[in-house]
Amino acid sequence: MASPLAVVTGASAGIGRELAREFTRHAYDLVLCAEDERIEDVAAELRGGGARVWAVRADLATGDGVAELADRVAGLDRAVDVLALNAGIGVGGAFAGSATDREDQLRVLGCNITGTVDLAKRLVPDMVRRGSGRVLVSSSTVARLPGPYQATYNASKAFLYSFSLALRAELRGTGVTVTAMLPGLTDTDFFDRARMTDTRIGATTVKDDPARVAREAFAALTAGRGTVVTGPFYNRLLFAAGRWLPDRALPWIFSFFSAPGSARTGRSVPKQRSWEQESSEQGGRGERVTPTHPARNPGTPH
Ligand SMILES: NC(=O)c1ccc[n+]([C@@H]2O[C@H](COP(=O)([O-])OP(=O)(O)OC[C@H]3O[C@@H](n4cnc5c(N)ncnc54)[C@H](OP(=O)(O)O)[C@@H]3O)[C@@H](O)[C@H]2O)c1
Repeated sequence: MASPLAVVTGASAGIGRELAREFTRHAYDLVLCAEDERIEDVAAELRGGGARVWAVRADLATGDGVAELADRVAGLDRAVDVLALNAGIGVGGAFAGSATDREDQLRVLGCNITGTVDLAKRLVPDMVRRGSGRVLVSSSTVARLPGPYQATYNASKAFLYSFSLALRAELRGTGVTVTAMLPGLTDTDFFDRARMTDTRIGATTVKDDPARVAREAFAALTAGRGTVVTGPFYNRLLFAAGRWLPDRALPWIFSFFSAPGSARTGRSVPKQRSWEQESSEQGGRGERVTPTHPARNPGTPH
């Protein structure tokens, strides 16, 4: 019997790479997508274990990139059994300050929201026509928490959570299930890339193992569950906090952890300081912090 096929986006690193490894452990063939060439290394590693793996380099923050991936999948002429919509980025810093570019903010939406929806719209209808399939959507435990200094990121994860639950309800009875994955802080490149290493969130060493996240997500996905909060129990408390705490308290509490410089100064919620001050603290020298992650191709947003 042919192996099932999983499409995993954001598979070159972090949670996505661990998801890809988890799928090969369960005898899946894989289409892996990321932007940088290191996706080829992951594909080579997994082929070494015996899986059939296709690597696609595409910028999923652009319409062309999503079309490229969808075309490559269609070209295989194989049913997609699992679609893991995992590629995602964040950007830290004051929204109105100069430390975050307009392009960076729009790219968060382009990759996390538009790219995810576009790919789902291209691949899910066929799964429904066939009457089987599993969709995994990478949201976050911040899905219910408005996040000062990462405002667009948290909002994008709220979108994905809502989208995931709604799509799941629409697809009930079709044989296709949708699972929202809600990881807590996980030990990946994410915070470096989002220029958040000087925040409490970015600097803390209490982060989850991405392999554990992938294992728990795989189990929930294959069981057809609607939601999985991965990691230790306190991640479930964090997610529940978004439901039980008053709206006005949530952003205030969150900014204690996400404010630029909060990891260095130990200060609490910043008050009565200009946006420019907030922004300049990202670099500590009034400069924009350069992530150690390789520069992105700005591309054309959706
Ligand atoms: N780490 C956490 O604490 C955490 C918590 C909750 C949720 N999440 C979510 O989990 C998902 C994975 O995050 P991670 O922590 O594993 O981050 P990561 O280590 O930075 O990996 C991100 C992956 O997404 C890919 N990617 C980013 N932009 C892309 C683009 N425009 N086109 C194609 N691929 C792109 C990256 O590939 P390239 O490098 O090639 O671009 C990489 O493979 C994200 O959706 C994130 O929001 C993470």
